[in-house]
Amino acid sequence: MTDAIHVEGLSKTYNGTVRAVDNISFSVTPGEAFGFLGPNGAGKTTTVSVLTAQLAPTAGHATVDGIDVFRDPAEIKRRIGLVFQESTADSDLTGRENLELAAALFGVPRRDVKTRIDSLLERMQIGDAADRLAKTYSGGMRRRLELAVGIIHSPRVLFLDEPTLGLDPQGRAGFWRYVQELQKENGMTVFVTTHYLDEADSICERLAIIDHGHIVATGSPSELKDRIGGDVVTIRTSRTDASIETALRALPGVTAVSVQDGAYRVKAPKGDALVPVLVQTCVQLGVGLSSVSLKRPSLDEVFLEFTGREYREDGVTATDRAVRIGQVSQAFGRSRR
Ligand SMILES: Nc1ncnc2c1ncn2[C@@H]1O[C@H](COP(=O)(O)OP(=O)(O)OP(=O)(O)O)[C@@H](O)[C@H]1O
Ligand SMILES: [Mg+2]
Repeated sequence: MTDAIHVEGLSKTYNGTVRAVDNISFSVTPGEAFGFLGPNGAGKTTTVSVLTAQLAPTAGHATVDGIDVFRDPAEIKRRIGLVFQESTADSDLTGRENLELAAALFGVPRRDVKTRIDSLLERMQIGDAADRLAKTYSGGMRRRLELAVGIIHSPRVLFLDEPTLGLDPQGRAGFWRYVQELQKENGMTVFVTTHYLDEADSICERLAIIDHGHIVATGSPSELKDRIGGDVVTIRTSRTDASIETALRALPGVTAVSVQDGAYRVKAPKGDALVPVLVQTCVQLGVGLSSVSLKRPSLDEVFLEFTGREYREDGVTATDRAVRIGQVSQAFGRSRR
């Protein structure tokens, strides 16, 4: 079976100096929801831009739906759908007009346009607001309209670049419900970048974590969590020294001890059983404790494990905004209002 997305040795350096994406390789199976996770500036938008034939890479190969992205960008654009974090809906057009415009731009056959638009409007629960200007829509409605625009031409592969940033939890859940339904019905492949690790955990069958342009881990959410090797108990102590570390390592059930950001991270298959023993050990050593926390494996822990840093959910960078606005205008072949 041909991969829905196949990437080999892909690199992108901006202005000869900024290595935004550095020799990444991965593949996505047809019908899969694949998550691309990473902090600000990791290279997510750059990767999406390259894979959607909007930005030339510095090196490497990529195919989407079996088509070479760099040899046949026009065909790629026909086969993919794209939803950005930046709003792409035209505020001064109604929801229906936005969809009609997209249908024309993407060459949806005339005879299919009306039924397709009607069914999408209903699906996305914006039917009642179809003839209102998009600028009167709530954030969640706009996102659903943009999702409808992104899939008007029934793309084989849907790229979503932080589609839910800024939406409340309810809006996020609603958005994903539609994406998952589409995925099930049409076997559409979904490539999504997100800052929300919990979201990626529940939506994506497989993930890649990208940091500073490098892929640091790939696998299903549960595989990645398993690689952490159990629960993590983090303790902050009044002092850190080698004798504490040695004592922690010797405790029953402990599989690893590391020091990160001035705290001890102690791994054990059963963290809850370890906590009282850890506290007792610190008392015996005469070490003060300022905090103790127990975490079941989560993607936050996976990120910390593979990058040595806490995951941050920051806003969108200025560069990113500028790049996106350029892409949006390009993708829609018109200037934004
Ligand atoms: N057009 C550009 N010119 C120069 N540098 C750029 C350009 N676009 C992005 N960069 C840089 O490339 C790196 C990767 O940026 P990219 O936008 O791909 O990251 P991202 O993972 O999408 O981040 P965010 O989470 O903020 O959206 C960053 O260091 C960024 O500043
Ligand atoms: Mg980005």
